[in-house]
Amino acid sequence: MWAMNLLLACLAVISCSEAAKILVIYPVPARSHGNLGDGVVRHLLKAGHEVTYITPFTYKPASPKLRLIDVSDNVKAAPENLLNLDDIINKQMTFDSPLIVMYIMLDMMRMTIENPNVQNLLNDPKEQFDAVIGEWMFSEAVAGFGAVYNCPFIWTSSVDVHWIVTRLIDQPTNPAYSGDPLSSALPPFSFWQRLKELYAQLSVQLLRFLYFDGAESRLYEKYLAPMVAKRGLKPPSFYEIQYNSSLIIANAHVSLGQALAIPQNFIPVGGYHIDEEVKPLPQDLKKIMDEAKHGVVYFSMGSNLKSRQLPKEIKESLLKMFGELKQTVLWKFEEDLPNTPPNVHILHWAPQQSILAHPNLALFITHGGLLSTTEAIHCGVPIIGIPVFADQFINVARASQRGFAIKVDLSYTMAPELKKAVLEMTSNPKYAQKAKELSYIYHDRPVAPGKELAHWVNHVIETRGALHLRSPALHVPLYQKLYLDLLVVIIVTLYVGVKVSRIVKSTFFPSKNVHGKKKTN
Ligand SMILES: *[C@@H]1O[C@H](CO)[C@@H](O)[C@H](O)[C@H]1NC(C)=O
Repeated sequence: MWAMNLLLACLAVISCSEAAKILVIYPVPARSHGNLGDGVVRHLLKAGHEVTYITPFTYKPASPKLRLIDVSDNVKAAPENLLNLDDIINKQMTFDSPLIVMYIMLDMMRMTIENPNVQNLLNDPKEQFDAVIGEWMFSEAVAGFGAVYNCPFIWTSSVDVHWIVTRLIDQPTNPAYSGDPLSSALPPFSFWQRLKELYAQLSVQLLRFLYFDGAESRLYEKYLAPMVAKRGLKPPSFYEIQYNSSLIIANAHVSLGQALAIPQNFIPVGGYHIDEEVKPLPQDLKKIMDEAKHGVVYFSMGSNLKSRQLPKEIKESLLKMFGELKQTVLWKFEEDLPNTPPNVHILHWAPQQSILAHPNLALFITHGGLLSTTEAIHCGVPIIGIPVFADQFINVARASQRGFAIKVDLSYTMAPELKKAVLEMTSNPKYAQKAKELSYIYHDRPVAPGKELAHWVNHVIETRGALHLRSPALHVPLYQKLYLDLLVVIIVTLYVGVKVSRIVKSTFFPSKNVHGKKKTN
């Protein structure tokens, strides 16, 4: 009996400790993307895997099972002053054109692949992986890494379900009710909005067809296909690889996004980047928050957008307005400000998740980045959103529609409007209530998002690519889905039928009609 137990225990250990080697690729040098990549890596390490992580944000790994490949040079692919607040406020700069984003990202993928550190990894035939996980960010070039290591490839998507990624494993979502990832329109769409969303889909499809598919294919043929050959395999075409991913793991959840029909291999695990345990606040900050009789307002514009980029008039008017509030204000800001009112505390660094988890926190003023919005719902905190660029507009629009947010436009004179929003949100409990309800929905899942992520990666590795999860829609051409071939058959049949009957008529009953026609003429 004892021996039996020991045997069972050994078997359990063996089956649980099947460590795999996984390559994780997150090349975008923006902190929010880095946080999502770090989250993926953390959960894979926790599941016992060995991880090689291509990232622009290097640090000293705490685990011997983690190896970092430094691509910090990628910063150079992002144009200087990409985020110039003045330009954004003056509406000189918009980010709703996919062309610019796609172009920057293509360049960044080229830089990533050309990076000497990545080249070393590619050139060493001894390097082997059981799966490659790559972030989808308006480029599909990294799919080629799966072919190099002859292993399953998994996409991660940093935002809610959208057509550009679902087309990679199933089919594009319908533009009549699901917007483009850069659109800020919320369904139900008006006629013009539907038209605009259809146009957005068609234009991106056309851009890919005319330029980007070819450019990415050339990148693959130049750098990755030779590496496949070097490992003794016949390189597949880029097209075959592009549509051959096993899963899409998305930073998405219905509590924050839309309840769209999704393919079986689309796995929404929104919030996996958040630490399972709340870290304690630093003593001084804890004291400030504990003692805030009227609650705390937390203001942070995220990591991309530095507060010091804020124009002077905005800074001064905000500081004055915060001073007029009875709440304690925590402002995440990289520099000290003169004449700070006593209820306002400037934090050069802010442990955001711990602040959001404090019971005295009344509301969060944010740029509306998806990670911040997710963290707010994780903690059940209402938000005032001041969107600045990219998906921040749709995030804040959705949050307002759900009832846990108020939107304030970024402008030189936003202080009075922001004050009005703070007063409304601190006097009307409906926003906090809604945030709590959504927080319940967010947390009420069979498994925690990080665990689910690790589960599906493991499933793909164990089943060598999870072919059973793939949608049959992927390889059915559009004309077949729309039965256009049937339409052609019907039209041809009718046409031939009419022709034949005319011939029959004119052969067997020749003169009748001629007479009638002449009369009407
Ligand atoms: C597609 O993916 C599967 C599973 O990972 C793999 O077995 C197959 O070789 C891949 N096909 C191509 C053409 O790369």
